[in-house]
Amino acid sequence: MTDVYAHRGSRGTHPENTLPAFHAAVQSACEGIELDVHLSSDGQLLVIHDEKVDRTTNGQGLVRDFSLKEIKKLDAGSWFDDSYTFKGVKIPTLQEVLEALKDWGFKGKLNIEIKTDKIVYPGIERKLVDLVHSDAWPFQIIYSSFNPKSLKRLRLLDANAQLGYLASDINFLTKMFLRYYHKDAWHISYRMMKEFSKWKKNYPFARPYLEAAKCRVWTINDPKKMRAVYSFGADAIITDYPERALALRSEIISEKKDLILEMTSKGNQEIKLKKDEGDV
Ligand code: G3P
Ligand code: MG
Repeated sequence: MTDVYAHRGSRGTHPENTLPAFHAAVQSACEGIELDVHLSSDGQLLVIHDEKVDRTTNGQGLVRDFSLKEIKKLDAGSWFDDSYTFKGVKIPTLQEVLEALKDWGFKGKLNIEIKTDKIVYPGIERKLVDLVHSDAWPFQIIYSSFNPKSLKRLRLLDANAQLGYLASDINFLTKMFLRYYHKDAWHISYRMMKEFSKWKKNYPFARPYLEAAKCRVWTINDPKKMRAVYSFGADAIITDYPERALALRSEIISEKKDLILEMTSKGNQEIKLKKDEGDV
């Protein structure tokens, strides 16, 4: 079965990477939650997507230039809509999110994306691993990154870390190489999933390489594309709308059951006909 992961929490309906977005994701009963981490100027792991605070808060500037105290003064909810529902929502620390997920009884997979592809945060991997190992969280933690160096560092710090290589561009050799280094999972774009499908069909020798690692596809919000990801057989679909993806998955499962029932009853009828005709 293809798992459903809520991208930056339930980002389609709540301000991304905030506690309300994660709470909504837990309530949707999806199997996984994805979030992004950066470091503050005083070395705190912060949950936010962009390198700058501008798009998702009432502040301006690079995350790395804010101390935790300064970042906590920002409003990360009001930008989302005009309803005031999320006014005053703060950028959470990763520790706060982990504790909240524990309190809410989340038992799925937490995908921590380490945002080191544009800005280098020295020591971020060590801080992350230390925090993850600081408690027996009741959910599984997996890491992902566009930056293979970060994945390599995580592997050195934790031999058992589950790693996902984030890729949106096509470079077969690079990906093959990376498979050997970080072979746990591909986290790929829709475009790349299409490419994987072609490779699987046209180059049988590539199949085992592509299938050796798990494959999670992002960021899929359109029902047609969701259907394609389910039919591709991805291990997970990463979406801003987990409820939509879960409802569609149930729909597809019922359609398959109906088809099997239809085929079985058709088969039974044919057997009956043959019996009546004395063929069986
Ligand atoms: O993990 C999938 C997705 O989050 C990667 O892209 O930019 O949304 O972090 P982005
Ligand atoms: Mg992300």
